Amino acid sequence: MLVKSVQVTPGYTNFFMSEPSIFLKVTHKQALTPDVFMFDLAHPEGLSLPSFTPGAHITVKTPKGSHRHYSLCSSPNDADQWQIAIKREALGRGGSISMADGLLEGDLLEVLQCSNLFELHDAAKFHVFVAGGIGITPILSMIRHLLSQGKSNFKLYYCTRDALSTAFLEELKSPSLVDRVQLHHDHGDLQQALDFWPIFEQPIAADVYCCGPQGLMDSVRDMTGHWPSEHIHFESFGVPPTAFEQNTPFDIVLQSTGKRIHVGADVSILEALRSNGESVSSSCESGTCGSCRTGFMSGEVEHRDLVLLDDERRQNIMICVSRARSNELVLDR
Ligand code: FES
Repeated sequence: MLVKSVQVTPGYTNFFMSEPSIFLKVTHKQALTPDVFMFDLAHPEGLSLPSFTPGAHITVKTPKGSHRHYSLCSSPNDADQWQIAIKREALGRGGSISMADGLLEGDLLEVLQCSNLFELHDAAKFHVFVAGGIGITPILSMIRHLLSQGKSNFKLYYCTRDALSTAFLEELKSPSLVDRVQLHHDHGDLQQALDFWPIFEQPIAADVYCCGPQGLMDSVRDMTGHWPSEHIHFESFGVPPTAFEQNTPFDIVLQSTGKRIHVGADVSILEALRSNGESVSSSCESGTCGSCRTGFMSGEVEHRDLVLLDDERRQNIMICVSRARSNELVLDR
C-alpha cells in the first residue's frame, strides 16, 4: 500500500506536514443508523479544503483529546466540505464514543493530518469493492469519485448485519448504483456470511479493495490467494473493539539500553514508547502499512496486524496493534 502525499491548496501550506493542524467546523451531523454518525466538515471561513485522493483518511483530535483516523467518504471533487462517518464502538477505547456523543453541529474539529494508505488505482479496468459495516466509508469515496468521472466499471459487495445497521443504504439503492451494488445481510450469524468463493474463483482483470472487520478481510484474503497480490488492497480499521477487552498489561525491554517500559492494558506498545520519549515511525496505526515494524528478541507475541507473513512473525511485531502474551517482551531497538 502506498502513502501518498496530498496536494494542498494555498492557505494550507503546512497542513499536511502536521504543523499547524487545521480546525474544521461541523456543519451537519446525522445518525445514519442507531450507532453510525455522519459529520460534514467545512472550513469555518468558507475557504476551499485541501484536495485528497479516494481512499484517504484524516487524523483528528477527538473531543476527549485522543487521536483517531477516519476515512473520508466524500468525493474528492467536493472542495467545500469533507464527510466522515463514525461507528460508535461501545466496547472500544473511547475515541468513537467521544466523537459520536461529544462532537456537535457548530463545533470545531482539529484535523491533524490527511494521508492515503488505500489508494484507488484509477486506471484499472475494473474495481471489485468489498465493504463490511463501517468499512464502507473509504469505498464510498472511491465510488463517488468513479461516478463523478462518468465511470461505472465497478461492483460493490457490501456486508452488514441487517438493513437497519446499513449506513448509506438509500444512496446505494439509488438508480445509478442499484445494478452495481450487492447488499448482503448476515443477521449476526457467521453461517450466513457471504460466500466469496464464487466471486473470486476465477481471477479477472480487476483491482480488489476490501475494508471491514478482520473476519471479512481474512475471508477475502483467503479467497484471493491465487490472484496477483498487487491487485488486492486492504484497509483496516484496526483491532476489533472486543480485542481491547482482552488486553493485559506487560513490560517491554529495549535490548540496546536495557530500559524497561510498562505497557498498560489501554495503550499500545507504540504509545508507551512515545510517552517514554522514544522516537517511533508510524503511519496507519492500525496494523496495515508496515511502517512500525520492530524486531523482538524474546517473549510471546499476540500478532494483530495484516502485514507480516507467518515466517516474519517469528522475529517481528507491528507495535501499533500487536501485544505481548508474556509478561515481558524484549524489543530489538
Ligand atoms: S503504523 Fe502502520 S502497521 Fe503500525
